[in-house]
Amino acid sequence: MRGAYCVSRNTPYATMKQIYLDHGASTPVHPQVIESMMPFWTVFYGNPSSAHAHGRDAGFALDEARRTMADLLGARPSEIVFTGCGSESDNLAVRGVMWAARLAGRGNHLITSCIEHEAVLETAVQLRDLYGFDVTILPVDEYGRVSPDDVRAALRPDTALVSIMAANNEIGTMQPILEIGAITREHGALFHTDAVQAGATTRWNLAQMPIDLLTLAPHKFYGPKGVGILYVRDGIRLVSALTGGGQEDGRRSGTVNVAFAVGATQALQLAQAQLDERVAHYTRLRDHLIAGVLAAVPADDIRLTGHPTERLPHHASFALRGLSGNDLLIHLDMVGFSASSGSACKTGNPKPSAILQAIGLGAEWTLGGLRFTVGAQNSLADVDALITALPRVVGQVRQFSQKE
Ligand SMILES: Cc1ncc(COP(=O)(O)O)c(C=O)c1O
Repeated sequence: MRGAYCVSRNTPYATMKQIYLDHGASTPVHPQVIESMMPFWTVFYGNPSSAHAHGRDAGFALDEARRTMADLLGARPSEIVFTGCGSESDNLAVRGVMWAARLAGRGNHLITSCIEHEAVLETAVQLRDLYGFDVTILPVDEYGRVSPDDVRAALRPDTALVSIMAANNEIGTMQPILEIGAITREHGALFHTDAVQAGATTRWNLAQMPIDLLTLAPHKFYGPKGVGILYVRDGIRLVSALTGGGQEDGRRSGTVNVAFAVGATQALQLAQAQLDERVAHYTRLRDHLIAGVLAAVPADDIRLTGHPTERLPHHASFALRGLSGNDLLIHLDMVGFSASSGSACKTGNPKPSAILQAIGLGAEWTLGGLRFTVGAQNSLADVDALITALPRVVGQVRQFSQKE
C-alpha cells in the first residue's frame, strides 16, 4: 500500500506468542465493536455537527450511541459526555466541578484519597498548589479501603466534591462507593467516582445510585482507546477545560469521534449483556491464580495485596519481598507473559509504589508490586503456565539482584 501507513512486516511484534495477563492496562477490541465502528470511517464520515445529510447521518448515530449508553448506565442521554480517555473524564469531573463551585461561591474544598489514579490525584494536587483550592487526601487501611467514617469526618460546609475511585488499578480493592456517595449526598456535596477499572464488571443504575459523576474508559472492556465517558448528573455545572465549538453541550469542545462513541457503546453493551458469565470466568481464573501463586512462591517472599474478597473479579496483585516489580516484569516478558507492576502508567518507573506504601508495606516490599489481570480469552491453562513459570522467574530475579 504505497503512500499509506501500515505496520511493517519486519516490525518485531512478539505478542502472538505471549500470554496476556494485563487486561487492567488495556484489552483487545472485540470484533463486534470493530464491526460497529467501520461504517463511521468509510460511509457515515460526516461531522456530526454539520447540517447536511452526511452530518445528519453521523449526528443520528451519535444520538443513538448516547441514548444507548445512557440506557446501559440507567442515565439520561443529556448526562453522557464523550471525551478522549479516562484521564480526560477524571480531569473534567474534578476540575470542572471545583471551578464551577468556586465561581458560584459554593465552596473551595475537595476530598479525595491517597490511592486514586494520578488522573484524579495529580489534578487535585494541581488545583491545590497552583490555584489555591483546599484538598483533603484521605488515608486507606491495610487493604486499600477508604473509610466512610473518614469521609464523613472530612466533609465541611465548603466541600464541593468528594472523588473516590470505585476500584483501585494497582491492588484491585473495591471501595464502598454507595456508602460514601450516600454520606456525601446527605451532606450536600457532589460525589465523583473513577470507575475505569470497575466499569464493565458492575451493573450501573445511576438514576438510583448516589453518584453524581462517573468515569469510564472503554479500552478496559474490549472497546477502543481514545475515547472516555463521563456521566454528569443533570443540573451539575462544569467549567470545561476544552473550549471551542461547544460540542457535548459545552462540556467538551471538539468534533466528536462518532466511530469511537459507537464502539464505546457497543463495548459496554456487550460487557453488560455478558456480565455474569464474564465475572464468573474472571473470578475462577483469578482465584486459581492467587491460590496457585501463593502456594508456588515461598510464603516469606510474597503477599497478596489489596482486599482478599472485596476486589475486582479479574485482578490478582502481589508484593514480592526485596525484588523489583520491573525486573520481574522483564523476566516474565522474556518467558512469555505480559503482566504489570501496577498501573500501566507506572511501568518503567522504579520508584516505590505509593499505593503499597499507603497500605502500610515496608521498604522491602514497595518496589516489588506485581499485577495480573485476566481477560475473556485467558484459560486455566494460561494461569497454570504462569504458576509454573513464576517461581523460576522469582528465583532468577533474586539471584540477579543479589549479584548487583
Ligand atoms: C483507575 C484508573 N483511572 C484512570 C485511568 C486513566 O485512563 P486512560 O488511560 O483511559 O486515560 C486508568 C488507567 O489505567 C485507571 O486505571
